[in-house]
Amino acid sequence: MKPADKRAYDRDYAQAKKTGKPFFPYAIFKDTVIATLTVLGIIILAIVVRVEVGEPVNPATTDFVPRPEWYFYFAFELLKIFKNQDVFTPLIMATFMVPNILIILLVVWPFIDRGPERRIWKRPFALGLTVIVTGMLCYLTWMGANSPAGVAKGGLPVSGLDEEATKGMGVYLANGCGSCHMVAGVGAPGPGPDLTNEGTKGWDNAKMIAWFKAPKPPMPSYASLPPAELEALATFITGLGTTYK
Ligand code: HEC
Repeated sequence: MKPADKRAYDRDYAQAKKTGKPFFPYAIFKDTVIATLTVLGIIILAIVVRVEVGEPVNPATTDFVPRPEWYFYFAFELLKIFKNQDVFTPLIMATFMVPNILIILLVVWPFIDRGPERRIWKRPFALGLTVIVTGMLCYLTWMGANSPAGVAKGGLPVSGLDEEATKGMGVYLANGCGSCHMVAGVGAPGPGPDLTNEGTKGWDNAKMIAWFKAPKPPMPSYASLPPAELEALATFITGLGTTYK
């Protein structure tokens, strides 16, 4: 700090000390009120806006595409920036190096930027840096949110699908059939049979739907699916290997 700045600072400080209010109890009281209101707000939200409980966990699923929560989308996207190298580089860079460099920068910032100026327009460098970092975070978050899903959600490597069969494939993927069955090399090798050529076995839609509703264990019953979904699923399965290959 320049001597003139230091004098101005000391003067302001002495003035503030004379006319201002002491930390205890005023500031402490304010903090307590705000903290209590915040916690109350959270409690009220927890009571009023209930978080939905998702589906039960299925440890056998093979078509679950893991996606991070939205506040991790930026790191999710960072992983992709460092991809196409060996397996570990993206992980180490995106989850360790980059975040820690930013955190260290945050910690040492007060020692780097020691100017007494507090008006934000007089601090173009700090302002610019903040805008750039915030902008990058928003951009990465947006990219992460819009990044295409993995293979399983995109579909199975089967072509020739019409609208109904595409819907059927969606039902197949959404219900975890692939955790017991294989189609065109995607899914689990068991315990269910490979369905790649299921259409050649002479099923019709009605028989297929009857099977979905009352299959032999260990295949679970899908009787609770809406009729339209069962119909689409049956169209998809009974065409596998014939219409859809
Ligand atoms: C828990 C594992 C499991 C899941 C999940 C599962 N299946 Fe099965 N599925 C099986 C087994 C095991 C069989 C063989 C049953 C038998 O014939 O004894 C089978 C048989 C079938 C058959 C008859 C195959 C044949 O030619 O005999 C079809 C078709 C079928 N499953 C479709 C589906 C579809 C569609 C889904 C999802 C909606 C599904 N399965 C979910 C285990 C499963």
